[in-house]
Amino acid sequence: MSVKQNININNSTKNNQIEKSANQGVDIVWNNVTYEVNLKNTKRQVLRGVSGISKKGQINVIMGSSGAGKTTLLNLLCCRAENTSKVSIKGEIRANGKEYNSNDFSNFAAYVTQEDCLMEAMTVREIIQFSADLKTRGSQEEKKNLVDQILKMMRLEKCQNSLIGGLMIKGITKGEKKRTSIAIELVSNPDVIFLDEPTSGLDSFTAYNVIDVLQKYAREQNKNIICTIHQPSSEIFMKFDNLLLLVEGQFIYQGPCSKVIEYFAQIGFQCPFQSNPADYLMSIVHAESQKNRDNYSLYFETYQQNLAPIIQDQIQIQKQQLSLLDNQKASFFKQLGILIERQYKNLSRNPMLFQARLIQSALIGIFIGIIYLPLPSSYDHRDDQRLVNDLNGAMFFLIQNSHMNSLLPIVLCIPLERNIFLKEQNQKLYHVLPYFLSKLIVEIIMVFLAPLILGSISYFMIGLNPNFGKFCFYQLVSFLQSFAGNAQGMFIGALFSNAQTAITVAPLVVLPFYLFGGLFKNISDFPEWNSWFQYLTSYRYSFEALVHNNYEGSPFTIDVSEQLNFTLGKWNSVLYLFCLGVGFQIIAYFTLKMSVKKLQ
Ligand SMILES: Nc1ncnc2c1ncn2[C@@H]1O[C@H](COP(=O)(O)OP(=O)(O)OP(=O)(O)O)[C@@H](O)[C@H]1O
Ligand SMILES: [Mg+2]
Repeated sequence: MSVKQNININNSTKNNQIEKSANQGVDIVWNNVTYEVNLKNTKRQVLRGVSGISKKGQINVIMGSSGAGKTTLLNLLCCRAENTSKVSIKGEIRANGKEYNSNDFSNFAAYVTQEDCLMEAMTVREIIQFSADLKTRGSQEEKKNLVDQILKMMRLEKCQNSLIGGLMIKGITKGEKKRTSIAIELVSNPDVIFLDEPTSGLDSFTAYNVIDVLQKYAREQNKNIICTIHQPSSEIFMKFDNLLLLVEGQFIYQGPCSKVIEYFAQIGFQCPFQSNPADYLMSIVHAESQKNRDNYSLYFETYQQNLAPIIQDQIQIQKQQLSLLDNQKASFFKQLGILIERQYKNLSRNPMLFQARLIQSALIGIFIGIIYLPLPSSYDHRDDQRLVNDLNGAMFFLIQNSHMNSLLPIVLCIPLERNIFLKEQNQKLYHVLPYFLSKLIVEIIMVFLAPLILGSISYFMIGLNPNFGKFCFYQLVSFLQSFAGNAQGMFIGALFSNAQTAITVAPLVVLPFYLFGGLFKNISDFPEWNSWFQYLTSYRYSFEALVHNNYEGSPFTIDVSEQLNFTLGKWNSVLYLFCLGVGFQIIAYFTLKMSVKKLQ
C-alpha cells in the first residue's frame, strides 16, 4: 500500500494527476507524517508526525545527525516507501495541494539517488541522450538541442564524449558523475528534484560546484530542490535557502538558513564567531552527547511554540492549482529500440562481454580439436565402441561449452546492472518487457556467434560426421543449446541481486542437469522417482539430437541411439530443446519482473 492509500483522501479530488500551472512550479507539503517500524518486541517511530513545506524557486535542505530520519522522509516524499507488515506509514503528502502516488510522481518530480548508477561503457552525452529519447517526445533535432542545453547547464560540455567508466574502464570524475546523474533527471524538466546526499564522497570544491549548479537551476527556472545533507561547508550552507533540521524524527527548525543562527541564539545556543554554522548545528544536535539529548525537549518545545504554527498556516494556505501535467513517455517499440541500442553499445564496448567470449570460444575450439585430432576414421572402425564413446564425449563437451558460454556472462551481467535497472524502473523510464527483450535480442548475437566459432573450428577436427547438412544441423542444435543457456542465465541472474552469489550458485543449479543428459548415465537407468528430471534438461535433448545426427547414415554398425535409449527422434529433440529455451525465457522474465522492488 502506498503512502496515499493510508491517508485521508479528499473525495472531491477525482483527478489523480498532480496539477501545476505552466512555469509556476510545484510546492510540496506534508502534514503529520509518521513512519513506524515494528521491531521484534517493540515499535520504533522513525518520523513522529512531521509537517513541513518545501517551496519552489529555492533549495530546501534537510539536515540532522545520522539516523535522524532524513533519508526516510525523503523516501516518503518520493513515494519510495510503502506500508508493509514491518513498516506503518501515516500522514498526508501533497504537491500543489493534491495528493500523489508513485505513478504521479514521475510526472512532476525526479529523484537522484546517493549512489550514481550509470552505465560504465556509455559516454556522458549518450547517457543524457538515452534519457531524452525515453522521456521526451519531439524530433531528433529538438532532443539533441535539449541535451546540448543540459550539458551546458550542468557544465558537462568538456567531458560529454568521455566514458563514464568504472572498474574496467577509465572514466570521468566523481563530481562529473554526480552532475551527469542530475542531468539525466533534468531531461524531463521536473518541477521538483529530490537528492539524497548529493555531495557525499565529493571534495569541498566539487561539492560546492554541484550545489552552485542546483541553486542557479532552482532560481532561474523556479524549481523546487529538496536534498538531504550531512555536514556542508559554510560556503555550501550559505547557498541553501530553506533549512529543515531533524532530530530523532522531529523538526526543531524550519525556515530560512540565514535565520537559523539567530533562532538558536535566542534560546541560548550561540554559534561561536567565525565558525561554520552547519558544524555548530550538528554539534548541538548529535545524539552521542548526553548534554545534547537533555536539550532535545527544549528544542522540541520551542519549535512547537514558535515555528510549528507558522508551518501549519502555510500548509493550509496551499491551494489547488491549474493545468494538467503531460506524460511524455516513449511508446513500447520506441523504448525497445532505445534499449537495444544501449545494450548493443554496452556489449560491443565491453571487452569482457564481447571479444573475450569470442576469443574463448575460438581457443576452446582449437583446444578440443587438437585433443581429438588423432581419432581414427569411422570407415576403418565401424564397430569400434571406444571411438563411439570418444565422439559422444566430444559432442557432449561441445554442447556443454555452448551452454556455459552464454549462461555465465548473463548470470553476472544482470545483477551488475541491477542498480541501474531498478533506478530506471523507479523512475518509470521503461517497462520490464522492453528491457528484457533488449537484453535477449542483443545477447542473441553472442548466442549465435560463440557456438558458430566453436563448432566451425572443432567439428571437422574432431572427426564428427563430415556431411555439410549434418554440420548445419549440429550448428542449429548448439545455437539452441546456447539459447537455453542464455535463458537459464537470465533466470539465475534475475533471482539474485548480488553478482557474487549468482555466479556461485550458477554451477550448483546447472550441474545436476549434466547428469541427466544421457552421457554419464544411461537414461533408462534412472530410478522412477528422479527419471522425470531428464525432461527438464536441455542437455538431454541436444545430446540426443546430436547422436541421431552424427550416427544416422554413418559407416558405424553400432546403433548408438538404441544403445543410449534415445527414442525422441532428431527433430522432436530439437523442438523440445527450443520449447525448453522459450519456457526458461518466460520464467526468467517473470522472475525479473517480480524482482522490481521499490528502492529505499
Ligand atoms: N525499514 C526500516 N527498518 C528498521 N529501521 C529503519 C527502517 N527505516 C529506517 N530505519 C531506522 O530509522 C533511522 C533513520 O534512518 P534514515 O536512513 O532516515 O537516517 P538518516 O537521517 O538518513 O541517516 P544518515 O545521515 O546516516 O543517512 C535509522 O536508525 C534507521 O536504522
Ligand atoms: Mg540518509
